[in-house]
Amino acid sequence: MDGIEPVLAAAWTQPLVRLCHRLANTNDLNDMFQSVVQALVETTGFSRASVLTFDGAGVMRFRAWQGLSEHYRRKVDGHSPWRADERNARPQFIGDVRSVPALHELQPVFQSEGIQALAFLPLVGGGRLLGKFMLYSEHPVQWRGIDNGFALAAADLLTSFLLREEASEKLLHARRMESLGLMAGGIAHDFNNLLTTILGYVALIREETVRGTPARGYVEVLLHTTERAAELTKQLLGFARPDTRAHEVVDLAEFVAEVRPSFERMCGPERRLEVVAAAEPMLVLGSRVQLHQLLLNLVQNACDAMPAGGAVTIVLQAAADPDAVELTVSDTGIGMDEATRARVFDPLFTTKSNGRGTGLGLATCYAIVAGMGGEISVRSAPGHGASFVMRVPRARTPAPRPTSVAPDKPVARVLLVEDQDDVRSMLVRALRTMGFAVANAVNGRAAMSMLAEQSFDVVVSDVVMPEIGGIDLAHMVMERWPDVHVLLVTGFVDAPEGVPEGVPVLHKPFLPRELGHRIRMLTAK
Ligand SMILES: Nc1ncnc2c1ncn2[C@@H]1O[C@H](COP(=O)(O)OP(=O)(O)OP(=O)(O)O)[C@@H](O)[C@H]1O
Ligand SMILES: [Mg+2]
Repeated sequence: MDGIEPVLAAAWTQPLVRLCHRLANTNDLNDMFQSVVQALVETTGFSRASVLTFDGAGVMRFRAWQGLSEHYRRKVDGHSPWRADERNARPQFIGDVRSVPALHELQPVFQSEGIQALAFLPLVGGGRLLGKFMLYSEHPVQWRGIDNGFALAAADLLTSFLLREEASEKLLHARRMESLGLMAGGIAHDFNNLLTTILGYVALIREETVRGTPARGYVEVLLHTTERAAELTKQLLGFARPDTRAHEVVDLAEFVAEVRPSFERMCGPERRLEVVAAAEPMLVLGSRVQLHQLLLNLVQNACDAMPAGGAVTIVLQAAADPDAVELTVSDTGIGMDEATRARVFDPLFTTKSNGRGTGLGLATCYAIVAGMGGEISVRSAPGHGASFVMRVPRARTPAPRPTSVAPDKPVARVLLVEDQDDVRSMLVRALRTMGFAVANAVNGRAAMSMLAEQSFDVVVSDVVMPEIGGIDLAHMVMERWPDVHVLLVTGFVDAPEGVPEGVPVLHKPFLPRELGHRIRMLTAK
């Protein structure tokens, strides 16, 4: 205390003790902001101070203040020397507001409030601008002569509160998404099993009905609807468990340039697509399929938000954090209100009516970005468009080999031979859903030429087919490729004649699950 005058020390001590006491006794961040502002006013020569932070639309709003009228707050609301994406905000000290042209339009309100000097202290955390801390004086101020150490320390403290608030919000959101993901994944998984069965039988019923009859028409509708349900379930599973096994090093700059033409077509003539990408490579660890899906969902939403036209802008740049890249997709569309903004990433949340939206687009984006170890956020206000900002870690090490991260047992390679298109496509789909790698052929001849070119573990074949049927195929396979298992399926009740010894026969109709089970039994041998 030697260097501090006793009177000054006494003037600081009391407010500081009070501040510590208040901070220790509250968990409410707004209370904390208010306490810091109050302590500052008590310890410095400034009679007023305030803290402002960005709202969801990227506009600075008052969070805590001391000595400012409501009239003043309303009038200056939203004014700021910095934008939400400002990278290089520095403190600004204004000795006399009348001498700054940029503040000209606020002169009347400064005058009525009795404000002559200002200090803007940016609150910067994690390389980003989070808000600002303001000091006001009713007299012109020679800032050079003032020790603003206390104000800078207070700005530091406020920044740490803001970072804490952000972290706890993120944690809450992440937890919510995780539990929604678990739930969605569980439902999708069970639902998928049911759908596989429904699809299988509907496809078989279709074969039993005569073309042109009403029953055939009903079955077609049923098949189509079930296929849509299956597609939806697939998306739901993608949201619940984005596959990170396919991650490789991707140069985002190159990737964005590559996909640009297809997105330009998607935007149509009435919307502009602008791409601003850094010239240097932007390496990340991700899957090209997922990255395409990510951009597709965001650009699709942007187009939906601009029915009368506008611009979609994709910006790719180095993030403030040197270990990350920043990808932004923004539009000049209808924007969204706070209630919508808060829920956009929730699975199944949509404002699009009549089944035009499933509400899985952004939930999938969230999952993809999270799977890459990054984060996605949104800024938007009604009538002011929307900006989706993604920060993704840069790839430092070469992509892990898929085999090293996927210790699962090898996927069984199945060749499915079936001449009826619908049954074949239903079975292919069902087997893929069960995790098999499936190729297909329309008859025994086609199957033989595929077997000559690729390796398979199991051949599943129908018995009656044109050209080379199942029985002949089974004999040929056993002769030329004795390691390949054969399973025959037949629509006839009686066992077909001439089945080679040891080849199992499955009778239609069967559940696709049964088929999967038989294949697993064969490959386990
Ligand atoms: N760029 C945007 N501008 C305005 N609102 C948006 C934008 N992007 C998303 N939204 C809002 O967020 C909601 C959820 O978006 P999301 O992409 O998850 O689902 P969706 O587009 O409704 O359906 P889909 O599953 O077909 O993508 C939208 O219904 C819309 O209200
Ligand atoms: Mg969408």
